[in-house]
Amino acid sequence: MPGIIVVGSQWGDEGKGKVVDVFSAQSDYVIRYQGGANAGHTLVVDGKKTILHLIPSGILHTDTTCVIAAGVVLDVETLCKEISALKAAGLMQEAKQLLISDSATVLLPYHRQLDMAREKAAGHEKIGTTGRGIGPAYEERAARKALLFGDLFQKDQLKAKLESALKEKNFLLEKFYNEAPVKVDDLMKLIEDVSEQLAPYRCKDTSLVIHKALRSGKKVLFEGAQGSLLDLLHGTYPYVTSSSTVAGSALIGSGIGASLPLKVVGITKAYTTRVGSGPFPTECDDDTGERLRQTGAEFGATTGRSRRCGWLDLVALKYAVRLNGITNLALMKLDVLSGFDKLQVCTAYELDGERITEYPVSPGDLARCKPVYESVPGWKEDLTRARSLKDLPRPAQDYIQLISSNVAIPIDVVSVGPGRDQTLWIKPLFT
Ligand code: GDP
Ligand code: IMO
Ligand code: MG
Repeated sequence: MPGIIVVGSQWGDEGKGKVVDVFSAQSDYVIRYQGGANAGHTLVVDGKKTILHLIPSGILHTDTTCVIAAGVVLDVETLCKEISALKAAGLMQEAKQLLISDSATVLLPYHRQLDMAREKAAGHEKIGTTGRGIGPAYEERAARKALLFGDLFQKDQLKAKLESALKEKNFLLEKFYNEAPVKVDDLMKLIEDVSEQLAPYRCKDTSLVIHKALRSGKKVLFEGAQGSLLDLLHGTYPYVTSSSTVAGSALIGSGIGASLPLKVVGITKAYTTRVGSGPFPTECDDDTGERLRQTGAEFGATTGRSRRCGWLDLVALKYAVRLNGITNLALMKLDVLSGFDKLQVCTAYELDGERITEYPVSPGDLARCKPVYESVPGWKEDLTRARSLKDLPRPAQDYIQLISSNVAIPIDVVSVGPGRDQTLWIKPLFT
């Protein structure tokens, strides 16, 4: 199986970055195919933390080629800072480690400005976005007004394209949100600077690169951002992101066909977190939630916001398995559950007095769902030094088994800490 899609099966921050970094040791290519700098993917190597927003999580492996494909909204300013920081830390050596698609959508500061102005105006109805301009940038692409990465290098047409894109944006900013308009000349200066820094990474057709890699048996990892329940079409709308976050998006965002056999690895925390507004049936707004937050260090890698925390939701996980066609699971942060006498696992919902086991797709319905819990024994032992399944106490092994049998998907990886070595391989990945 040359291609593996890694997707978040919850509301993001499941530990995708760690898994992709660990898998990258065996991968020739790692592809980011959707989302933008709203993502915050954390890698911990020898105790040193690196947070990536746009650069694929394979970058710490010098022999792995990282690709930012057409489906990504590319915050060029943030990307330049990320590259400079990696280089300064000696973590990125050569330009050939990163390829950026000429077809990716360019995200500029005015997208962030609009995102934040809109959230401010929404008051208590805000989505709780990351403020990274994701919605406005995808809207512009859909409206066919966006600048593409390749456009940054077509100097003769650039200013006219920018002026055309800005006409409506400045009207909105000034007249609707009472914000300062954007000056084309300021943007032109910014673009001049960033395009010079990003020119070495330019790739006209990343779809062709990925296609050839897959056809020649190279190992390709597709790195999803966000999580399945934040999907624009299938998530808790309108409290979602503006891209498709499910596995099918890997094909569209990177421009490869739908006929290749691919493995889909769903990344799942041993409990659940969410950042921003929207329904969350198993949320624990009490000491349990606070304990998970503190033990799991559940503070956003992009915005630093406190993550909402709660028990594992198997109804939602089953839905994610279906949406993505998940074939294998990676269970993350099992170590965080040590010390609870009992663990609660949501196996059904109660909706308007009726017990249901299928996730309700209407967000209004989901908001009325009450979790039905199965209570299982916890364990006291610290798991962070476990290196194989047999090092885990029996209740932890039973917890893994319960999840796997409930959703009928094998768990191939169990993670017991942020470090690379804190990973239990139950099955090799590329088989
Ligand atoms: P991503 O967005 O899915 O890549 O996840 P984030 O990086 O936003 O959040 C996951 C957090 O959990 C990061 O701080 C990781 O270093 C950390 N992490 C990953 N796996 C584990 C684990 O098994 N145990 C613990 N305690 N932390 C982990
Ligand atoms: P990673 O890749 C968690 C959430 C925001 C908000 C909603 C819309 O690190 O898992 P947006 O800025 O995308 O318009 O915000 O989506 N969100 C994430 N939550 N992890 C992420 O990425 C997220 N990216 C966006 O908090 O609720
Ligand atoms: Mg994250």
